[in-house]
Amino acid sequence: MTERQGHVQGLSEHELSEIRMLIEERTGICFDESRERFFSTRVLEQLRVKGMERGTDLLRAIRKSNIEYEALLERLLTQETSFFRYPAVYEAFEKRVLPELHAKKFWKNPRTLRIWSAGCSTGEEPYSIAITIADSLSFADAWNVDILATDVGRHALKQAERGVYSGRSIASVSEKQLSAHFAEVSGGYHVKPRLRKMVSFAQMNLASAVYVGRMDMIFCMNVLIYFSEERRRALVQRFFDTLEPGGYLFLGHSESISKMPVKFQAIVLNDCILYRKPTAEELQKPELVAEGRA
Ligand SMILES: C[S@@+](CC[C@H](N)C(=O)[O-])C[C@H]1O[C@@H](n2cnc3c(N)ncnc32)[C@H](O)[C@@H]1O
Repeated sequence: MTERQGHVQGLSEHELSEIRMLIEERTGICFDESRERFFSTRVLEQLRVKGMERGTDLLRAIRKSNIEYEALLERLLTQETSFFRYPAVYEAFEKRVLPELHAKKFWKNPRTLRIWSAGCSTGEEPYSIAITIADSLSFADAWNVDILATDVGRHALKQAERGVYSGRSIASVSEKQLSAHFAEVSGGYHVKPRLRKMVSFAQMNLASAVYVGRMDMIFCMNVLIYFSEERRRALVQRFFDTLEPGGYLFLGHSESISKMPVKFQAIVLNDCILYRKPTAEELQKPELVAEGRA
């Protein structure tokens, strides 16, 4: 039987739909029709792993126990990532954003850069940010660089904290970067302490509004695509409120916020769009806020 007929071996459509609603309510992750097969296959896998026969048993377990809920959630997360996943984003970060923030903060004491990698998966994104800063911010070591890397998935965060990478994940890291920022160990390349010190990892659910302090930049790439429109809007508004005036939001390639009623400047640079929070003075001049929207 297929799920279209309302049933997947041992799981009724009603049970699947209860599980789907519970996951969406708690995390914002929305399993629409296009991801229905992925969803039901993973739920079924969990049912088998737990040795359960009926969907009601799983449903009861995840409602009652946080451990059971998290075990199922881990199976449902899409955590694909790699170092420098979108080169154009890191180029824009290096060539446009860092020089601007450098000029803005040069005379500040202490010189601090706060960056949030929201939905960091196994850590490739925050470490790519750290590499870019280490390689291109002049006198990077004279800055307090604080990259907060958060994800709802505990397994991914454990890998991120370990910081050992190999294969496709590091395919876009240059030889020069590999030798400057990684030590070769059995099983791959280990990020060196200089990078590791810039990044702190924390488990955080983006569906709950946790205060993280003001940020100069937020990277939230390939996370919003899994959320409902309503959650996306709420999260983008939260990012706006969290950013310093003049701060930047980086989203994934297919994630556009152009129809949202939030006042970011959209800046088109080669192959990517950056979203900049205008300063109070710029907000008085609407022609500046429309930059890049042509
Ligand atoms: C496809 S990965 C993106 C990783 C990285 N940002 C990138 O673009 O390469 C999406 C990540 O978002 C995380 N995620 C999904 N829903 C979340 C939520 N409600 N709160 C926090 N993280 C979430 C997943 O665990 C996963 O690691």
